Amino acid sequence: MCDVMNKKLFFGLVGIFVIVYTLLYTTYYYKNNKQDTSPVNEPTEDIIYREIDDYEDIVSTLQYKNYSTTEINNILGKLSDTNIKKLIELPYQDIKDYVDITNFNIDNIKRYESYKTLNPDLEIKNVVTKVNLNLDKEFYSNHEDITNPEEITVLVNKFHKLSSDYEPSDLTSLSYSSAYKMRKPAAESFDKLQAYAITQGVSFYPYSAYRSYKTQDIIYNRYVKIDGVNKADTYSARPGYSEHQTGLAVDIRSTGYNELISKHYSWLKDNSYKYGFIIRYTKDNENITGYQEEPWHLRYIGIDHATKVHDLNITYDEYYDLYLTEY
Ligand code: DAL
Ligand code: ZN
Repeated sequence: MCDVMNKKLFFGLVGIFVIVYTLLYTTYYYKNNKQDTSPVNEPTEDIIYREIDDYEDIVSTLQYKNYSTTEINNILGKLSDTNIKKLIELPYQDIKDYVDITNFNIDNIKRYESYKTLNPDLEIKNVVTKVNLNLDKEFYSNHEDITNPEEITVLVNKFHKLSSDYEPSDLTSLSYSSAYKMRKPAAESFDKLQAYAITQGVSFYPYSAYRSYKTQDIIYNRYVKIDGVNKADTYSARPGYSEHQTGLAVDIRSTGYNELISKHYSWLKDNSYKYGFIIRYTKDNENITGYQEEPWHLRYIGIDHATKVHDLNITYDEYYDLYLTEY
C-alpha cells in the first residue's frame, strides 16, 4: 500500500517537473530566438513606414542621434527626401518648428535661427521664406546664376542673375510697334490685354519691353552717374538682374506715369492677371523686391500662376519660393 503511494507521489513529482521544465525551456528558447533575429535598431511598430531609399538606415541613424520616436515620425511623415538625406548627415537638430513648413530648407537652419533672434515677432513661416529669399543678406551680396532662363516662370531678382550672353529665342514684336519685343507668349498676351483694356475704357501703351544685357548696362550706368549707386539700385536693375532681359517684362504708360498710377492702377491689378501678367514691384513689398514701387512694370508668368499670385497677394519672389521651388 505504502509502495503504491510512494510510486504515485514519485511519478506525480516527475510529471510536475517535466511540465515546469518544458514551460521554462520554451520561454527561454523563444526569448533567445527573438533576440537573435532582432537588430537593436530595427524599426519598431511605433515608427511609421515611408517609401524612401535606405529607410532602415535612416531610422537607425536618427535613433542613434537620439531623435525621439515622435521626432522621427515627424521627419519621415513631413520632410522632403532631400531634407531627410541632408538631416541624417548633421548632428542632432531640433526641427519641431519647421516640420510643417513646406519651403523649409535644412541648409538654411542656422540662418533661420539667427534671423528669428533678430526678428522675434516674425512668425516662423515668414522667417523661413525671408531667409530662403536671402533677405538676411545685403542685396547683390551673393548671387546664383540662373540656369532656366527660357522658362516662363524664371525668377530674376537681386540674387538671381542672367548670363550676359542670354537672349530669348522667340522674341516677337508687340502689335503697337516693332520697336518693342517680348517672348512670343508674352507678346501675344500683352496684345490681348491691351485690346481688352481699350474695350473697358483703359488705354496704355508699351514704352520699354525686351532689353539686352548691353542695353541694361547702359541704362543702369547712366542712372548711377546721375544718382549714385545706392539710389540707382532702388529703381534700376544692374545688368544681368533685370526681368527685361528675359523678354517677359514690359513697362507701360498712359499719357504719363501719374495718369497711369492714378487712373489705371487698380484696373491693372484686377485684370492683368487674367492675361498672365502681374504687377511685379508693389509699394508694400519694397523690402522684398529691393525696388521702389513700379506700377508700370508688368511681368508675364502665364495665367495660372498670375491668378494665384494675384489671389494670394504676395510677391513673385515669395510665390516662387513657396510654390515653384522643391526643397
Ligand atoms: N526697373 C526695373 C527694376 C529694371 O531695371 O529691371
Ligand atoms: Zn520695367
